[in-house]
Amino acid sequence: DQLRAALQQMPKAELHIHIEGSLEPELIFALAERNGVALAYPSVEALRAAYAFTDLQSFLDIYYAGASVLLKEQDFYDMTAAYLRRAEADNVRHTEIFFDPQTHTARGVPMQTVIDGIYRACQDSPVSATLILSFLRHLSEEDAFATLEAALPLRDKFIGIGLDSSEVGNPPEKFARVFARCRELGFHLVAHAGEEGPPAYIETALDVLHVERIDHGVRCLEDAALTARLAREQVALTVCPLSNVKLCVFDRMEQHNMVQLLDAGLMATINSDDPAYFGGYMNANFLATFEALPLGLSHAQRLARNSFAAAFLPADVKQRYL
Ligand code: ADE
Ligand code: ZN
Repeated sequence: DQLRAALQQMPKAELHIHIEGSLEPELIFALAERNGVALAYPSVEALRAAYAFTDLQSFLDIYYAGASVLLKEQDFYDMTAAYLRRAEADNVRHTEIFFDPQTHTARGVPMQTVIDGIYRACQDSPVSATLILSFLRHLSEEDAFATLEAALPLRDKFIGIGLDSSEVGNPPEKFARVFARCRELGFHLVAHAGEEGPPAYIETALDVLHVERIDHGVRCLEDAALTARLAREQVALTVCPLSNVKLCVFDRMEQHNMVQLLDAGLMATINSDDPAYFGGYMNANFLATFEALPLGLSHAQRLARNSFAAAFLPADVKQRYL
């Protein structure tokens, strides 16, 4: 119908996509063969059948295993180019892509191989694309510092720093010093917070790390004062509806709190997180959300507008979409 067409056709920005989470099972198997990497699953179908998650960690285990097929610059290029074709098809005009270098450098893949492959695919795409280097929060702050050091010779190829992986037990303040350094260096800062972790992690991401956006943030509604602050300061939340259902943050899409987030006046956006694992790219996320919840055309326009308003783009470029 009309709403469906509008959701598909409207120009949008994606602000929360892990490039390793765009690796489709078919490409995992093709790269495994190309690189002589052994996989724990006998077929594409068997791998896809294992995508039944109970929480964030059950997903992360299989997501890091999938990334083990990425060895050469061309592998990172092919993965990123495939994502950007899907984004283009969904009328994504701008995307800010997370990458997890520690997943690769820990296996002996050089930092430059990772960044150059992803960056070259971005340059070859008609979609505007920038990169956000994410630290894995289950690893130490010392490891994050070493990762930053290794990436700094390539600093012109990424615009921001993020924080992802296992949230509960790894609060933002664990990374206070390395984020302070990234801030001095002039990078944009974001962090996953309030996905599985408590609202207090959203507060320390803002007050200790000084992040400009919160990735996920859906648990903010458990704290009325925090919700009021996020609305007052118009802090963007990069919400990922299909991810939230797949990782059991909400049991069903009908229970997702997107309507309450918008009604509270929050700067919420819709994003795909790990589209190869969670059942779809940007338009699939918009369609699933709007199908399950009482949302209409004005909400669609507001979400699209929010996505550009919250993007790390120059004001004059943003203005074309607002
Ligand atoms: N890494 C990839 N996807 C993630 C998510 N949804 N939460 C935390 N870390 C992630
Ligand atoms: Zn994420």
